[in-house]
Amino acid sequence: MVTRFDFDGIQAYELRSDALAVTVMEYGATLTGITFAGKKVGLGYDTMEEYRKGTAYLGAAIGRFANRIGKGRFTLNGRDYQVSVNENGNTLHGGAASYDVRLWHSEVIGDDAVKFTLHSPDGDNGFPGNLTAAVTYRVEGDTLTLMFEGDCDADTFYNPTSHMYFNLDAPKSVLETKVSINACGTLEVDGELIPTGTVLPLTADTDFTAPKKPAHYFDHCFVCGGDGVKATAEGGGVKMTLTADYPALQYYTGEFIGAPFGAGGGFAMEPQFYPDGMNHEGFASGLLKAGEHFRKTATYHFEKV
Ligand code: BGC
Repeated sequence: MVTRFDFDGIQAYELRSDALAVTVMEYGATLTGITFAGKKVGLGYDTMEEYRKGTAYLGAAIGRFANRIGKGRFTLNGRDYQVSVNENGNTLHGGAASYDVRLWHSEVIGDDAVKFTLHSPDGDNGFPGNLTAAVTYRVEGDTLTLMFEGDCDADTFYNPTSHMYFNLDAPKSVLETKVSINACGTLEVDGELIPTGTVLPLTADTDFTAPKKPAHYFDHCFVCGGDGVKATAEGGGVKMTLTADYPALQYYTGEFIGAPFGAGGGFAMEPQFYPDGMNHEGFASGLLKAGEHFRKTATYHFEKV
């Protein structure tokens, strides 16, 4: 069931099944809350003011390109591009004032989904091509499905994801939450978290192929060897299983998530192409060709354990 409501002047919706209640809104096509079996498992702020001031991308749809692009530079079809830089001279999550703070157009689809659409013009934050981006949130039983779509009239790089934060056992730190990630390696990064081009083998520290608690704060890109993403998190009697047809997963334990949650107050698991992928040979880059329809899906399944 889909119900409309007003969130501090922004059009918002609740998608509800017997097990799940999920709220979303037009600002940033943001997921503002997930409740499973009566328990809050996804983080949201209480007010729009906090969304406008926040720097954690809480629950937002990310575009045009999730994660980082070194110096905001790349070459495509022989042309050099400089896109908006917003972190240490690099591009993070699409650059300044990107999709996460835009007002998307919303439409209810059937009785269990809401689709958000955004027109991102040619040259938006420096990216080539007129892109129509869309994200659809659907709640069926104990599963939340996100579908990312895109259509562009020129070749571009498109790497949409969701920046939802979870805490299955609040107010405990997410360092207490056991996670598993089906990766075969992690991306080596420099001091500004820009990939060097090297894929590191899993170590005792980064091997989450069997569920375990992280030994410290993580902000790592796990690469999944062509099988797509499968990850789980378990805490507070709830298990979440994420599956996505993306080649990488950023696991971020929210060290800098900020108030009111505090360090470790939530973790994000962001399915994506490789950060800075277009600048490294052999990396999955998120190239979207003109006229090609982009479609990726991430499902979050919840169960009691
Ligand atoms: C990145 C972090 C960054 C955070 C911003 C995450 O996707 O991996 O490095 O600090 O987004 O909230």
